[in-house]
Amino acid sequence: MDKTLIVTIDGPAGVGKSTMAKQLARHLSIPYLDTGAMFRSVAWKLGEGSWEWDEAKLGAALDGIEYGLSGTGEDSVLSLNGTAIGNEIRTEQVGMWASNIATLPVIRTFLKAAQQALGEKFSLVAEGRDMGTVVFPDAPCKFFLDASVDERAMRRFRQLVAMGKPADLEELKEQIARRDHQDRNRVVAPLKPADDATTIDTTEMTREQVLAALKEAVA
Ligand code: C5P
Repeated sequence: MDKTLIVTIDGPAGVGKSTMAKQLARHLSIPYLDTGAMFRSVAWKLGEGSWEWDEAKLGAALDGIEYGLSGTGEDSVLSLNGTAIGNEIRTEQVGMWASNIATLPVIRTFLKAAQQALGEKFSLVAEGRDMGTVVFPDAPCKFFLDASVDERAMRRFRQLVAMGKPADLEELKEQIARRDHQDRNRVVAPLKPADDATTIDTTEMTREQVLAALKEAVA
């Protein structure tokens, strides 16, 4: 098989990585890989407090987990043991659980291998925190999206309202800032742009403008 094409999009919580990754993947007719959903689904499956478990117990729990990917663009479906990952993982609480387990080397090693295996099999727009730095360091096209905490909280707020879910802007700001702090300061694979990534500050940009910038850079 020909070598796959990997485009990476990293950035902090709420910056719009998934939206952009889906649309860029559609433009390229390839799947997008939401690696945050991998961390969230592990956190969800293992449950609250699992970040306190010892490595042997964590390792045993990870043993039965396999990811699959099908479809392209926004129709990409990530599945865990054959079942599509659903919206139950899309809360700030599960985001924080994900951030907690994401500090653990045993979890990161396991998910890195799963992500790289998918990258061997499929061309991908892969989005997360360490796609350009750790998981796909040789990707030819790397982006780092950023935006102020206020703007990201506002985007998340609008997203939740659109889904008919309860949302509190001040609480979102506080949660996003807390998760950012943990993601940027952890020892293993902290959130940061790869040296060869193109950083785009999207605070003052519309989605269309960001997408146009991404498309232009991959052309
Ligand atoms: O992107 P999302 O908000 O879904 O990610 C949830 C959490 O998973 C992040 O806050 C981060 O701690 C972790 N994560 C990570 N590395 C990735 C993707 C997500 O550490 N590649």
